[in-house]
Amino acid sequence: MTTSTTAIEVSGLTKSYGPTAVLRGVDLTVPTGTVYALLGPNGAGKTTVVNILSTLITADAGTARVGGYDVRTDSDAVRRSIGVTGQFSAVDELLTGRENLRLMADLAHLPRIEARARVEDLLGRFDLADAADRRASTYSGGMKRRLDLAMTLVARPRLIFLDEPTTGLDPRSRRDLWQIVRELLAEGVTVLLTTQYLEEADQLAHTVGLLDAGRLVAEGTPADLKAQAGGDTLDDVFLALTGHSATPGTDTGTDADREVAR
Ligand SMILES: Nc1ncnc2c1ncn2[C@@H]1O[C@H](COP(=O)(O)OP(=O)(O)OP(=O)(O)O)[C@@H](O)[C@H]1O
Ligand SMILES: [Mg+2]
Repeated sequence: MTTSTTAIEVSGLTKSYGPTAVLRGVDLTVPTGTVYALLGPNGAGKTTVVNILSTLITADAGTARVGGYDVRTDSDAVRRSIGVTGQFSAVDELLTGRENLRLMADLAHLPRIEARARVEDLLGRFDLADAADRRASTYSGGMKRRLDLAMTLVARPRLIFLDEPTTGLDPRSRRDLWQIVRELLAEGVTVLLTTQYLEEADQLAHTVGLLDAGRLVAEGTPADLKAQAGGDTLDDVFLALTGHSATPGTDTGTDADREVAR
């Protein structure tokens, strides 16, 4: 990665699928060593942004630089600079936790001795040492999330994308993951995460961008956003800043309802 004070720079990003405009001109900037939370309900376009920035798909228009590299013209360099934990797990359920991590170390071409040390360190840090030799299919949802994130960290990326890292986790597992993100931040890692939870953005993010139907309709510190909206829940903030509920078709949806709807 080039040494720059800007880790992610996005301008005028658009993306459509057929007649459906998914992103309608997204601009955002993430300073190196900070956490940016992309907040929005189901279908807002969060994963689409992550997929473009991690070079999985290409935008129709606009520019994006990640780690100093253009995602379109320098996608290999972008991929080498980043770690991605997707919305849906990359864990191989037939392998044990340790085997999953070793596989990532092999893919990252870590020398054998370093790989072994890195895997053991991550198993310990993510509280997976006792379960290391069990198949991942026997892990709880929280354990799978921790393993998924540990796999992303094997190659020590300085820039990490986390797509809804805590959706579906219980409060304790959620707090464990928040703690891990804070430790990454303390190491100077830059994090872009997506979430449907205002509280999560509040806990972790320096900057929050509120995505609504493919547009960033508000951006600021979590405190700014809550002050602008005069509310404490995603629905309060959403309603105040967009004039409609975060849940299409209802005015009373809660995060728990959306969870069930997923
Ligand atoms: N490959 C695709 N083909 C057609 N439509 C798509 C495709 N990928 C995404 N979309 C549409 O784009 C919109 C945004 O999707 P996206 O996955 O980015 O939302 P999201 O904010 O991540 O939602 P969620 O909170 O449910 O993960 C949705 O309406 C979705 O149906
Ligand atoms: Mg998504």
